[in-house]
Amino acid sequence: MDQEKITVLDFQKKKDNNQKITMLTAYDCPMAEQLDASGIDSILVGDSVGMVLLGYQSTVSVTMEDMLHHIKAVKRGTKRAFLIGDMPFMSYQISDEDAVRNAGRFVKEGGCDAVKLEGGQEVLPRIKAIINSGIPVLGHIGLTPQSVNKLGGYRVQGKDPESAKKILKDAEVLSDIGCFAIILECVPSSLAAKITKKIKIPTIGIGAGSFCDGQVLVTHDIIGYSDKSIPKFVKKYSDVSKLIKNSINNFKEDVLSGRFPGEDNSY
Ligand code: KIV
Repeated sequence: MDQEKITVLDFQKKKDNNQKITMLTAYDCPMAEQLDASGIDSILVGDSVGMVLLGYQSTVSVTMEDMLHHIKAVKRGTKRAFLIGDMPFMSYQISDEDAVRNAGRFVKEGGCDAVKLEGGQEVLPRIKAIINSGIPVLGHIGLTPQSVNKLGGYRVQGKDPESAKKILKDAEVLSDIGCFAIILECVPSSLAAKITKKIKIPTIGIGAGSFCDGQVLVTHDIIGYSDKSIPKFVKKYSDVSKLIKNSINNFKEDVLSGRFPGEDNSY
């Protein structure tokens, strides 16, 4: 029998029962099918798609149309996992109306179960407006890649007492306002542990140590899809880039030498 569809309620249930939450990214239908079949709790269509697949320098360039294109593909491959769409830079910062309209597009046109957006106290009214419209929100604090220009690079956040205090406050406020969970990106494990203990809703860590209620990574990083360097917090489980290179070279050599197509590949 098919496993039951994961809902927003399962996130809190898992935290309350001390069960870890698993989340990975997908940008297309075949990857979504693999994740869905594996039993991963949640699939995030991250705006990381911009850097991983679209060749952008940062996630700042990602558009609503880019996201919707990939969300729709992922939706076609997702039956059971909880599907979250990542709201791109400037799709929610300008006004509550924009934020609700764009979050609504992810749910209505893309088939998302929830949306994620970056930021703490500064985006509170936007998050409130989206939740009030009936759409669950996953918060994202710590290192927020859409603010890379403001932060001056991709670096660990919350290392000094002042910024740790701000991140803890952000987490408390996002929990109180009704986010169903928050992502903690690139913060010291001790801070993530403190937040995880203090707030009611689940924390999903990426570069935030082992004390979070769940973990998320970019799937293309864990399978070694690219030769580019990966952050320290990623665990690489395979080397797909090597397989791709071998396959391309073998094809080329086979064609040049006349080994392909053989009898088996001919009609
Ligand atoms: O865009 C993304 O993929 C993300 C996560 C990895 C947290 O925001």
